Formats: sequence, C-alpha cells, structure tokens
Amino acid sequence: MKNIYIFLGPPGSGKGTQTARLAERLNFPHVDTGSLLRANVKAQTPYGIEAKKYMDQGQLVPAEIVENIIFERLKENDAKNGYILDGYPRSIEQALILEGIHEKLKNFWHDDGANVCAIYFDVPMESLIERLVNRRSCSKCGEIYNLINKKPQRAGICDKCGGSLIQRSDDNEETARLRFETYNNETYPLLKYYGDKGILKTINANLPIDEVWEELIKITG
Ligand code: AP5
Repeated sequence: MKNIYIFLGPPGSGKGTQTARLAERLNFPHVDTGSLLRANVKAQTPYGIEAKKYMDQGQLVPAEIVENIIFERLKENDAKNGYILDGYPRSIEQALILEGIHEKLKNFWHDDGANVCAIYFDVPMESLIERLVNRRSCSKCGEIYNLINKKPQRAGICDKCGGSLIQRSDDNEETARLRFETYNNETYPLLKYYGDKGILKTINANLPIDEVWEELIKITG
C-alpha cells in the first residue's frame, strides 16, 4: 500500500518548507493547493479568475474548484506511489471529498489504496505574522526563504536556481489575520476529525527549521 501524508497547520507553520524536503527524500510529489491555485491565477484560467476573489480575502476557494484541480493533479503518473498533500483538505467538507477522490483513484490505478497519515504542525499563531510578512519565494523553482531566519545569499536572488524572489500578495498583515480566522473556523476542526480516526500525529513546529525536520523524520521514517 502506498503512503499519503496530509500536512495540517496554520498559515506560516512551515508546511511548505518541510514538504519540499520530505518530497525530495521520499521521491513523492509535493501537492500544494495554494501553489496550484496561484498557477491558475497567473494563467488567468476560469478557475484562477474565480479563486483569486477568495484568496485575496484570506478565504477558502470553493470546494468544487479545488476538488477538480487536485483530482487532475493526483492522476498524474508521479503520484501513483504516494504523495504529500500540503494545504488540502482544509475543512471537514474537503476531507469527505478527499475520501471520495481516494476511492476514485483506487479504481483509476487498480491498486489497493493507501495508508493515510495526517501531520499537524503545532505552533502558536502569534509567532506566525512575522514569518509570513518576511517570507519570499522563488518565482522559478518555488524555494522558500525568510528575510529574518533563512536569507538568500544574494538579496532577491534564489540560491538554488538564480530565479528572482517574490513576495506573495496575501503575505501582508491584514490578509494574514483573515487567513488565521479562516483556519480557526474551517481547518482546525480537522484535528479532531483525524484524531478520532487514529491517524493524526503532532509535531512541535515552533522550533528552528532543522529541528522540525528531525521531528518529521521520526514520524515518516
Ligand atoms: P497556501 O499557499 O496553502 O497558504 P497557507 O496554508 O496559508 O500556508 P502558507 O503557504 O502561508 O504557510 P506554510 O505553512 O506552507 O509555511 P512556509 O513553509 O511557507 O494557501 C493560500 C490561499 O489559497 C488560502 O488562503 C486559500 O485562499 C487558498 N487555498 C489553498 N488551499 C486551499 C484549499 N484546500 N481549499 C480552499 N482554498 C485553498 O513558511 C512560512 C515562512 O516561515 C517562510 O518564510 C519560512 O522560511 C519560515 N519558516 C518555516 N519554518 C520555520 C521555522 N521552523 N522557524 C522559523 N521560520 C520558519
């Protein structure tokens, strides 16, 4: 059976930073709904045009848009043997949809399904605004930086690929607070949902990046 990891945690808790590392280690794709949506916004697809209205307000994009985007992504060959979901699901509604998607994928791949493990990045929200407003990411390869604790060697330039670094439009204090509110109302209940199923693990994400990584390795092997 393949393994699927679901990363849960508030905006800025380090899900993207750690998923990138784990994806490389496990040779699994990093399936990140935020990036998939931003790519649709940039390409001005019908989904992207609709999604932007919600993303600018720190709200969840309607479930059916995200469902279509994620189902198409998970049917790609590199996801056949497992994947890491970063930012999906974000509500009980989406968790139920995901279970339906997994059933459909079982038929699509003719396999025996998956072991699902949800990992919660536990960190107090007060510390996250500073992380978010100082985040920069590479416009080419997506590598994540921070102007306080993970600076690029040359200002504005990605160490990995030389691409230019950009700031996300939702990484301002006002939108970040709206995103926290959405997280508390919609996503936080998933901790109980996955806890009740016995598939939730928690890591202390309020540690330096390398220490969070060590905690993650203990869980994922
Ligand atoms: P999305 O892009 O998924 O944003 P998010 O969930 O708010 O998460 P972030 O990407 O902000 O944070 P992260 O936890 O990945 O942190 P990171 O590693 O980058 O979603 C954006 C929007 O898209 C949503 O608001 C919504 O509108 C829409 N959307 C997405 N998915 C959706 C869905 N399923 N349904 C509906 N709508 C959806 O780290 C942050 C910063 O902190 C970086 O600078 C990093 O260097 C630094 N950092 C990381 N770890 C540490 C550490 N341990 N110590 C110190 N600094 C650290």
